Amino acid sequence: MSRLLHIDSSARSGQSGRDPHGSHTRRLSARFIERWHAQSPQDAVVYRDVGVSAPKPVDGEWVHAAFTPAERRRDWMVERLAESDAIIDEALASDIIVAGVPMYNFGPPAQFKAYIDNLVRVGRTFGFDRSRPGEPYWPMLAGQEKQLVILTSRGDYGYGPGGRLEERNHVENSVRTAFEYIGIDISHVVAIEYDEFADHRVAASIAAAEAQVDRLVEQLLAERVRQAA
Ligand SMILES: Cc1cc2nc3c(=O)[nH]c(=O)nc-3n(C[C@H](O)[C@H](O)[C@H](O)COP(=O)(O)O)c2cc1C
Repeated sequence: MSRLLHIDSSARSGQSGRDPHGSHTRRLSARFIERWHAQSPQDAVVYRDVGVSAPKPVDGEWVHAAFTPAERRRDWMVERLAESDAIIDEALASDIIVAGVPMYNFGPPAQFKAYIDNLVRVGRTFGFDRSRPGEPYWPMLAGQEKQLVILTSRGDYGYGPGGRLEERNHVENSVRTAFEYIGIDISHVVAIEYDEFADHRVAASIAAAEAQVDRLVEQLLAERVRQAA
């Protein structure tokens, strides 16, 4: 049995192909979860929609609370960290994190960045000890075989490896880096391009991305069967 965490972060609430002006990343993430569930209905899925309900961004109170040792936290600090705790508990309890992350101004949307800033927390998802010889930081989720699936979409084209805009793409690398930092270092990416062109190219890109999602679901389910054998 696997535990899936499904996250959406598009500001568009509907799905493309189903709702007018709907989101491509919501379409891909829903497809991943539906196809997975069709083949493995016993698996638990937890859903978090940061596009509709964004985590509160990190502020001075959050930093003060997070860097106060747990046993010395006052009530307001515990309260300020409650949302971060819920975000972390969900990630700790999941095997596969399926995240819809559109490109907004070359990076992830602010609501997904707020999610990451609440997830990456000293003492809960990464450790820090300045007296530790060599490397003072360590990933607290390492060795758990958790996997991240990034489902992204952009209006222009050529942001992939070797593409004309590759250097302007700060979505996948920034998301992967943050997850690797806490120990989730197995990741997969599927992208849609050409959204702004609204022609046959976006249609072809969607079809290719959907086929990639389907193959990825098959691949991850097959891996699970192999690991269980
Ligand atoms: C605020 C905003 C910023 C965007 N910035 C970019 C960008 O930097 N590069 C790009 O190619 N497309 C950009 N787009 C287009 C989106 O990446 C594209 O519409 C994508 O499909 C959005 O994901 P969604 O379909 O899941 O909502 C932007 C769209 C919005 C709303």
